[in-house]
Amino acid sequence: MVNIAVLGYGTVGSGVVEVINTNHESINKRAGQEINIKYVLDLRDFPGDPVQEVLVHDYEIIANDPEVDIVVEVMGGIEPAYTFVKRALEAGKSVCTSNKALVAKHGPELMEIAKEKNINFLFEASCGGGIPIIRALNGSLTADEVDEITGILNGTTNYMMYKMATEGSDFDVVLKEAQQKGYAEADPTADVEGYDACRKIAILSSLAYGKFLNYEDVYTEGITKITPEDMLYAEELGMTIKLLGTSRKLGEDTFTALVAPFLVGQKSPLYSVNDVFNAVFVHGNMLGDAMFYGSGAGKLPTASAVVADVVDEAKNLHENIATNWSNEPMKLTPMDETEG
Ligand code: HSE
Repeated sequence: MVNIAVLGYGTVGSGVVEVINTNHESINKRAGQEINIKYVLDLRDFPGDPVQEVLVHDYEIIANDPEVDIVVEVMGGIEPAYTFVKRALEAGKSVCTSNKALVAKHGPELMEIAKEKNINFLFEASCGGGIPIIRALNGSLTADEVDEITGILNGTTNYMMYKMATEGSDFDVVLKEAQQKGYAEADPTADVEGYDACRKIAILSSLAYGKFLNYEDVYTEGITKITPEDMLYAEELGMTIKLLGTSRKLGEDTFTALVAPFLVGQKSPLYSVNDVFNAVFVHGNMLGDAMFYGSGAGKLPTASAVVADVVDEAKNLHENIATNWSNEPMKLTPMDETEG
C-alpha cells in the first residue's frame, strides 16, 4: 500500500480524490498496489463530505508521518507550497504537483533534491491540464531535436476570447464565467495578464531544449486589451485572436520565447482550438509537426494528470525517473532580433 497526502482540497484537490475513488480498481492495478489517501490538508472543514475523515489542518502531521510516501501538492501559489514541497522531498517523500508557478520558479532546486534522494518530483498537470505533453517531451520525443513549441496554454483566456467572439459578451462577464467553471487561477490576473501561459512555455521549453528557461526572461503580454469588437474585426479578416506562448531554438545556443495575443488564420491548426481547450504544437527535426490537444483546465482533466503522476511515483518509489530537465540556464534572444 502507498500512502499519499493531498495538500489542498480546492478544485484540483477534490478532483484528485474523485479520480482516485472513481477509478480505484484500474489505478491500483496500474500502480501495482493500493493507493491510499491518508491525509487531505486544508484550512477549511467539509462537513458531510467523507474527506472529513482524513482531513488535517496542520502540515506538521504529514511532514512527521514516515508512512506518507507521496505528497500531492495542489494548493497553487508559491508559499506555503514551496516550503511544504521542499520539506517533503528532503524527508524522502516523492511529490507531484499541478503548480506551474512553483515548477517555473523553483523547478531546478526541487528536481535536484529529488535526484539526490532518489525519489521523484513530477508535474504533468502543470502544463495543458489533462494533455500529456510533459510525458511526451520526456519520453516519446526524447530522440528528437525539438526546435519549436507554440501553444494555446491557458484555458481561461481561450474560453474568454471564444465567448467574446461567439456571444459578444464583455470581458468581465466571461471572466466571471471562467471562474465559476473552475478554470481560472485563484487570482485570475495570472490568466488574463499571460503570466500563467508564460510559466507554462518556460517549463515546456526547459524540457524540450535541455536548458532551464527562466520565465522572468520571457516577454509577456496578456489579453486585457482585447475586446469583443477586436474579435469581430479578426473574424471579418477571416481570422481569430489567440493568446499564444511560443519558443524556438534558432541555433546551437540561440533561443527565443514570447507570450502575446496573435492573429491566427484559418489554415493554422490552432484556429479551431476553442472553448477551454489547449493545444501544443511541437516541431522536431525527425518528427516534423505534431500537435497535442485536450482540456487545458478544469477539475477532472487536471486531476487525471496529477493522479497519473501518483501512479508513476508509486511504481518508482525509490528510483528517480529520468527526465529531460536540465538546470543549465538558457539565454534568450529577443524575438525582434531574429529573422522570420
Ligand atoms: N488557470 C489555468 C488555465 C488552469 O486557465 O489554463 C490550468 O493550468
